[in-house]
Amino acid sequence: MLHRIPKIDEMKCLLQENVNNSRILYLTSYIVNIGNNALFDYEAVRHSIVVAKLAKEIAKEMKLTDSELEDITCIGLLHDTGKQEISPELVKKPKSDMNMKEWNNIQQHSIASAVNANMVLRDPLFRKFDDKRREGIVDAIHFHHERYDGSGYPFGIKGKEIPLYSRIIAVVDVFDALTNQRPYRTWIYTKAEALKHLYHERRKHDYDVLIAFVETIKKKSGSII
Ligand SMILES: [Fe+2]
Repeated sequence: MLHRIPKIDEMKCLLQENVNNSRILYLTSYIVNIGNNALFDYEAVRHSIVVAKLAKEIAKEMKLTDSELEDITCIGLLHDTGKQEISPELVKKPKSDMNMKEWNNIQQHSIASAVNANMVLRDPLFRKFDDKRREGIVDAIHFHHERYDGSGYPFGIKGKEIPLYSRIIAVVDVFDALTNQRPYRTWIYTKAEALKHLYHERRKHDYDVLIAFVETIKKKSGSII
């Protein structure tokens, strides 16, 4: 069987950085396999890898510990796996064309992803993770679409009620979605435009996370643009 492996720099980087981490290698091959089963398209695989990579960079900038960097990488890789349960037609539909039932279905993906992560983390590879650590990862996935001002879903919690890991994922999730093609949008934002958009919507995000993100972008490209 011919496997479609995303040929992207972030994937190469993620694998190189984690060459000795069997858990990250396992989760990466897990999402690539979902992609190969056509339950989760190529773009979703690419997005998960990029979110994992960028979220880890923000976490590093925020001086999180090594085990926290590993946790956020796991969260990035698994955060959208619940989309397997949504029809590809619905995932591609613009929000403005969705009826209430369809929008509710979309909102359920963060819960489905958390349930899925809870199962994946039962693999013996994760036996060194205690319950608290496993719960932290699952909760972060559960709340990755919540927003700092309470405008997110599915619960509408706000501020520091939202776990830090989820607040980090929220920023890179939006950034990567804006800077890549989406079936429901005809344009792609440049990195500078996406940062500007995040700034305009800063009430939706944790300002400290936004600042750390800008710093990581500066370090990567020498400037914000
Ligand atoms: Fe999501």
